[in-house]
Amino acid sequence: MCGIVGYVGEREASPLLMEGLKRLEYRGYDSAGVAVENGAGLQIRKKAGKLDGLTRLLQDRPVEGTMGIAHTRWATHGAPTTDNAHPHHDCTGTIALVHNGIIENEDVLRTKLQELGHEFESETDTEVLVHLIEEAYEDNLEHAVAAALTQVEGTYALVVVSERDPGKIVAVRQGAPLLVGVPDGDRDERFVASDVAAILGHTRKVIYLEDGELAILDREGYETLEMSGWGNGGAPQPIEKEISHVTWDLEQIERGGFDHFMLKEICEQPDTIRDAMRGRLLEEEGTARLGGLNEIWDDLKDADRMVITACGTSWHAALIGEYMLEEHARMPVEVEYASEFRYRSPVVDEDTAVIAISQSGETADTLAAMREAKRRGATAIGIVNVVGSTIARETDGGVYTHSGPEIGVASTKAFTGQLTVLALITLKLARERGMSILEGREVVSALQELPAQVQRVLDAEREDSSLDEIVEAYSEQPNFLYLGRGYNFPIALEGALKLKEISYLHAEGYPAAEMKHGPIALIEEGMPAVFVAPTDSVYQKIVSNIQEVKARGGRVVAITTEDSQTPPAEVDHIIRVPRTLEMLQPILTVVPLQLMAYRIAVRRGCDVDQPRNLAKSVTVE
Ligand code: G6P
Repeated sequence: MCGIVGYVGEREASPLLMEGLKRLEYRGYDSAGVAVENGAGLQIRKKAGKLDGLTRLLQDRPVEGTMGIAHTRWATHGAPTTDNAHPHHDCTGTIALVHNGIIENEDVLRTKLQELGHEFESETDTEVLVHLIEEAYEDNLEHAVAAALTQVEGTYALVVVSERDPGKIVAVRQGAPLLVGVPDGDRDERFVASDVAAILGHTRKVIYLEDGELAILDREGYETLEMSGWGNGGAPQPIEKEISHVTWDLEQIERGGFDHFMLKEICEQPDTIRDAMRGRLLEEEGTARLGGLNEIWDDLKDADRMVITACGTSWHAALIGEYMLEEHARMPVEVEYASEFRYRSPVVDEDTAVIAISQSGETADTLAAMREAKRRGATAIGIVNVVGSTIARETDGGVYTHSGPEIGVASTKAFTGQLTVLALITLKLARERGMSILEGREVVSALQELPAQVQRVLDAEREDSSLDEIVEAYSEQPNFLYLGRGYNFPIALEGALKLKEISYLHAEGYPAAEMKHGPIALIEEGMPAVFVAPTDSVYQKIVSNIQEVKARGGRVVAITTEDSQTPPAEVDHIIRVPRTLEMLQPILTVVPLQLMAYRIAVRRGCDVDQPRNLAKSVTVE
């Protein structure tokens, strides 16, 4: 996601800021910028694209000063352009800030500020913050920041500087990480950063801010204050913060202490699922708000049919989307591999809505399929993670998954983000095509529970030994069958794909009942069959399929729900996940399968994050 670094001290700021941004590159970004203050005014330089571009810009138009802030942006609101890059400044050009997070009431605030005469230069939600601070400024920066934030809903790590307060940096945290770096030696300097990696070259002594805390830094010291009540007439409460000593090395920090990016991304899912829903759920109305679909909503709602097209893991998400949309919105849906769709003269016209699902937004086949659909007159919709990517730009409307950069080649958090967004689209469409408000509210509340439920799955697997046993028992097995029915048939496909991709073991995903039309011939003594069997409407059917495997000497791993009665005797290993609505259950059942593939691959000594022959973004057909 986005990265922040700030410096105030006795050294030239810009080389330190650029070094900090470089250290944050691994997080993924699409534009970058710096603002430096030298006592005679703010100098802002920003550039779309990689840091090299910003470095060249700084060579051509250097900035000077011993205080500054800098940012790498991973676009969420607005395309990855230079205008949208941070820092953003107010109308007078005297206040600048960088921000990580999302401002949920951006629309309302922007309209209000425009009515007051503020002029915006970007499409970002962040820019409203700097104008709000400008509006609230009376005599000092920290008061203006605190006052402005009383109007803001959302999450932020925010770092602000102002010409009117030379030598001072104000930093606030609410829902996005932020820390202060204090000097290790006797230099007069302070750092602020969203991630300790940015400043590790200079200090290992840091103070981690908590939500609702504000820090004021200058070259000689810092102060930390509690924000609650402040800006609303209350007084700021100073708080004592402990200094932590960072012992990790840089590489460990980039992965957040996890051994691999894939594991980090699996564990981020409670947050990324929450981010996919943030600001989009309407509890009272029992529906969803999806701004990116407003302009084409009528075409979507009144379409005769939908086609969902994608590749790889995104194609599995598409299959689950088909089940969701047909069951709840009563919309006829077909799912197509993008590579097939583009070349087979599909029947698609103005009455068809085509959804392209892609984490990267750059997959060549998906892009070509989407263009083909548009050429035939269809309304094209994107479910994309990377903001401003080609698919996101070329579709008529879309919904971003907001999963943050996915670095592990095998997709995990992007997949659950896609499923969450498909559920939101289903909910909104279903509510307009016959779903009652009560049912809608039930879906909203089930969605709200999901992040905590995913966390429970992750915590259980950390403590429990069921995965240990599975990894121990099957890491050397050459063949696996993954079986599921209904909503969890695509999860069987996804579980098998995860194992293949990263552990190089052969795994085949199948609809459980289809097994007897072929794959059953493979089952011999000891062959592992992984059943995805929550207690849903097809549970009894899948229990019969489990018995068919057991009767032939196969060994069964069952992923089921906490309420299932499956006698453990019938299965060799059982992993239970919380129960949710049938259409959302795949978001929970996939998590143990991601972990299982990961653990087996690690055990086999495979390169988990960069498996052989695979690419993160396949831009060739
Ligand atoms: C590659 C990746 C997969 C991904 C697929 C589709 O094969 O290795 O993880 O699912 O491309 O990528 P997309 O970016 O379009 O979702």
